[in-house]
Amino acid sequence: MGKYKLFKIPNHVSIIMDGNGRWAKRRGLPRYEGHRQGAKTLENILKFASDMGLKWLSVFAFSTENWNRPKEEIDVIMSLLVEYINTKLNKLLERNIRLRFMGRIDKLSEELQKSIKKGEEATKNCNGLNFVITLNYSGRAEIIDAVNKILKGDRKNITLEEFQKYLYIPEMPEPDLLIRTSGELRISNYMLWELAYTELYFTDVLWPDFSEEEFLKALYVYQFRERRFGSV
Ligand code: FPP
Repeated sequence: MGKYKLFKIPNHVSIIMDGNGRWAKRRGLPRYEGHRQGAKTLENILKFASDMGLKWLSVFAFSTENWNRPKEEIDVIMSLLVEYINTKLNKLLERNIRLRFMGRIDKLSEELQKSIKKGEEATKNCNGLNFVITLNYSGRAEIIDAVNKILKGDRKNITLEEFQKYLYIPEMPEPDLLIRTSGELRISNYMLWELAYTELYFTDVLWPDFSEEEFLKALYVYQFRERRFGSV
């Protein structure tokens, strides 16, 4: 029997990919090298998730607060994203992966917005894994953006179900499992609405060192969690 035998696979796994900077620092490398390595880790995990038949994988790539970082570091993250979309599109299509982005996309560079459009358009008919990259994203911003969309209409009240339709990707199911790497025990303004009943999994492993085995371990732990959604 396998060490991490799975009998229940979650529908949506979300990841806060934390610890790239520390990974680089420990090696005496510039922080952006951690992001480069982190992008490679993400590729491996995406392939693994798609092979196991996961339906939704979302990742926190850049928050609305990350603009406070040094320009050099931001430039590397942004160019990794453009490079990623431009060079991996065929692989995504081959794997039937639908690429989607969520966040305040209209505030990103023209170049990145163009790549995002291209990536989303090219993969829009893929019906394997939905791969969501949150970019210039924060949970509070998503809620405020939803409220502002609602205020443009003439509603006087709203239900939970209706509110959901104003989120960035209305059809995205709530994450069943959130993984955060690098030992930080916080949500950091990530998917505040969607995480209401999500199971949380924290590991000390830094994101660039996060392996397929670590991912499997998180899914293994998840399947023994008892989810009651507020009932008994
Ligand atoms: C958190 O580590 C990581 C980020 C803010 C950026 C994540 C970006 C990538 C993995 C690259 C994105 C690429 C693609 C293709 C989606 P940190 O810098 O906060 O690390 P620290 O806490 O150790 O400083």
